[in-house]
Amino acid sequence: MPERETVVILDFGSQYSHLIARRVREAGVYCELIPYHAPAETVMALNPVGYILSGGPASVYVSGAPHLPDYVLASRRPLLGICYGMQLLAYHLGGQVDAASEREYGQARINLTDIDNPLFSSIKADVGSSLDVWMSHGDRITRLPPGLETLACSDNSPTAAMGDPARGLYGLQFHPEVVHTPLGMHILRAFLYDVCGCRGGWTAGNFIEESVERVRDQVGEGQVICGLSGGVDSAVTAILLHRAIGDQLTCIFVNHGMMRQGEPEQVVATFGEHLGIHLVSVDATEQFLSDLEGVTDPEAKRKRIGERFIRVFEAEATRLGRVDFLAQGTLYPDVIESTAPDRAVAAKIKTHHNVGGLPAGLRFDLVEPLRYLFKDEVRRVGEALGLPRSIVWRHPFPGPGLAVRVLGEVTWERLETLRQADAIFIEELWTSDWYDQVAQAFAVLLPVQSVGVMGDERTYADVIALRAVTTDDFMTADWARLPDNLLARVGNRIVNEVKGVNRVVYDVSSKPPATIEWE
Ligand code: XMP
Repeated sequence: MPERETVVILDFGSQYSHLIARRVREAGVYCELIPYHAPAETVMALNPVGYILSGGPASVYVSGAPHLPDYVLASRRPLLGICYGMQLLAYHLGGQVDAASEREYGQARINLTDIDNPLFSSIKADVGSSLDVWMSHGDRITRLPPGLETLACSDNSPTAAMGDPARGLYGLQFHPEVVHTPLGMHILRAFLYDVCGCRGGWTAGNFIEESVERVRDQVGEGQVICGLSGGVDSAVTAILLHRAIGDQLTCIFVNHGMMRQGEPEQVVATFGEHLGIHLVSVDATEQFLSDLEGVTDPEAKRKRIGERFIRVFEAEATRLGRVDFLAQGTLYPDVIESTAPDRAVAAKIKTHHNVGGLPAGLRFDLVEPLRYLFKDEVRRVGEALGLPRSIVWRHPFPGPGLAVRVLGEVTWERLETLRQADAIFIEELWTSDWYDQVAQAFAVLLPVQSVGVMGDERTYADVIALRAVTTDDFMTADWARLPDNLLARVGNRIVNEVKGVNRVVYDVSSKPPATIEWE
């Protein structure tokens, strides 16, 4: 296998560290985001063509602050320090970093004092002597280390960018990775291609070839099982594995009865029939529903579903006989979050059960072919593998399924009501071309009834809430401004076509303070 061209981003805990990695991948270069304190051997094994040092919340002059590991400068590879990363570079090379009298936060304009260096020459045609950037720092460089020169300054930072083209060392006080630095991507590309000499070419097609080989190496003659949920991550994992090892793969699809309309049938048809994957489909609806009888607390629902899922999955795996590996659709953001330095673990808002996730009782080796991919890359790989658009671009769906959208007690009848209403909403989004313009859309069945009038009759019936959001990362979200005629059509159809519903409302809350799901 040819060696993969890799840029290493050392993570010093900035909230933008993920974003640097995404931008580098978008530029067509493979990169890995690695905690700054990772063992040198782990990083050196990747033979990085260059390094990027992320920002971070610390101050380099404070004792105990994260420092630059020795192997980085010793490797004599090109290096770009961003914000704290730049201060760290300056400090390690003998410069001086001090607290600034004022923090610089938000949009700023910097003066380019040397535009002919390799980092800035690509933006020369687009800017004069100043550049709009995004700043977020309280410290600044007050004395440059030997060999480095100031490339830009701002009112608050005598050195807003620095560089030594001979050694390929650069530092930026601002954040090129955020959209608020409009030409930031040009600067990152210049670092990757002109300074590090990257060839690029990181594409879905290359990824597929490479990971097929890797999976074959890892699995050998072994037998692999993979939990299929119908979502894009497990779907891409399954199809990639199938390409690599064919009949050594068995997929297990557990239907918990809380899927959307037509979903179980689609999973079986797509994977079992069209793609010819060996698929075990288990209908465990009755077991799940009996576990949920009388349960109304959202966390209790999640817990019971998670536990039952593990038991059903384990029973099926045991029935298969020999199993050596368990394949999972773990993505890069999960990997990064579980190893990130200094980013306080977010307060637990909801327990996320990923149906298809690792049953704790099973001790198999893991195969995780998507472990280094972001969600948008997974979708591109899915398309390149020929998965249907309806699976690749499907909105995310929570592991516990409609159980967390039927508020109050979950019964088959209430699930059916919700399924019908949800299917109408989704169908109307597709026909009006709105499905792809929102990140997630669904219906929720509320645990209240309201009074209405149908014909001359008084009704007292169920209420459906519609939720549609726009978001980049699902950490924050805004409610989607759907056209009122679309909402009117959906509302009208639901009340007319779904028995037992006489009222439809639209959710206009953002996250925060609300969450995307209602439970
Ligand atoms: P919230 O509701 O926390 O959701 O704003 C953020 C994203 O996560 C999804 N979600 C889940 N996914 N298991 C999952 O696999 C869960 O238990 C779960 N709960 C929420 C939600 O649909 C949204 O995309």
